[in-house]
Amino acid sequence: LSSLTDTLERCRLRVERALDRRLPTTHTPPARLHEAMRYATLKGGKRIRAALVYLTGEALGAGNELLDCPACAVELIHAYSLVHDDLPCMDDDDLRRGRPSCHRAYDEATALLVGDSLQSLAIELLASDPTPALDPARRTEMIALLSRAAGSTGMAGGQAIDLASVGAALTPEALEDMHRRKTGALIHAAVMLGALTAPAVDQKISDALERYARAVGLAFQIADDILDVEGETAALGKSAGKDQRHGKPTYVSVLGLEGARIRAHDLEREALDSLKILGDNGRALASLAGFIIERRQ
Ligand code: IPE
Ligand code: IPE
Ligand code: MG
Ligand code: MG
Ligand code: MG
Repeated sequence: LSSLTDTLERCRLRVERALDRRLPTTHTPPARLHEAMRYATLKGGKRIRAALVYLTGEALGAGNELLDCPACAVELIHAYSLVHDDLPCMDDDDLRRGRPSCHRAYDEATALLVGDSLQSLAIELLASDPTPALDPARRTEMIALLSRAAGSTGMAGGQAIDLASVGAALTPEALEDMHRRKTGALIHAAVMLGALTAPAVDQKISDALERYARAVGLAFQIADDILDVEGETAALGKSAGKDQRHGKPTYVSVLGLEGARIRAHDLEREALDSLKILGDNGRALASLAGFIIERRQ
């Protein structure tokens, strides 16, 4: 586990630097928007999606310098999703990553535009980030993959279902579908973006990574639902206990704490099983799956 801690720290530092270099400076007009974009993106977050890009790429032998751009792109989309998720018209959350959420530190209109701008920057980077030259055909595939994951059949669609489900009793199947969209889709994209930086990936390996990505993607939101109940605001850096207060259907409300834990562990087993084909090269991804399910924040 300590080697995983080191690995996550390495990925975190690497993507932090890469993001810092790619976000517009606070001197670039409009300065307040750029300051808010940096506020919402930098110095916070576990950077699990970036780690999935780096560790998948590394498992397949891709050069680290090729991985910065997709790692930044997925973290930018994620940061945008959090800024909008916290808005009063969505989850109405005042705390994010241990600080006032973007619309509290700035204002609602700025937070809206921060989300828009982070999303655009993510796509711009995949299309034209110069360091270093990614293969143009791969860039197009990456843009299609990430856009689909973020859009109305992926993250944004999952958020729409989430908002429409307040106070409703969802079936386990409907709940799983919502979670796979709102959170699973972007986690899945992180893994597959990492795979797209590798030279040529055998179909069997690509299928195995698909399975891994889907399992950890769903497990990630189950763990988030559990932490909303069991975690504490100070450790989470976001308000605990919000889901129940807001009448959100979650794995805990639908299956109970124990049921949620069992489902998460089944998914961990599935993730580990799918990595077998990678042998030793899959070890870091296996530890990361464990971390995603057992994490305390
Ligand atoms: C929180 O994601 C929102 C969900 C999709 C569950 P993370 O737990 O990855 O948030 P950060 O990036 O570490 O703040
Ligand atoms: C977030 O789900 C999903 C997103 C697409 C951001 P939550 O609403 O449960 O995330 P937190 O708990 O606020 O981080
Ligand atoms: Mg939400
Ligand atoms: Mg929320
Ligand atoms: Mg949550």
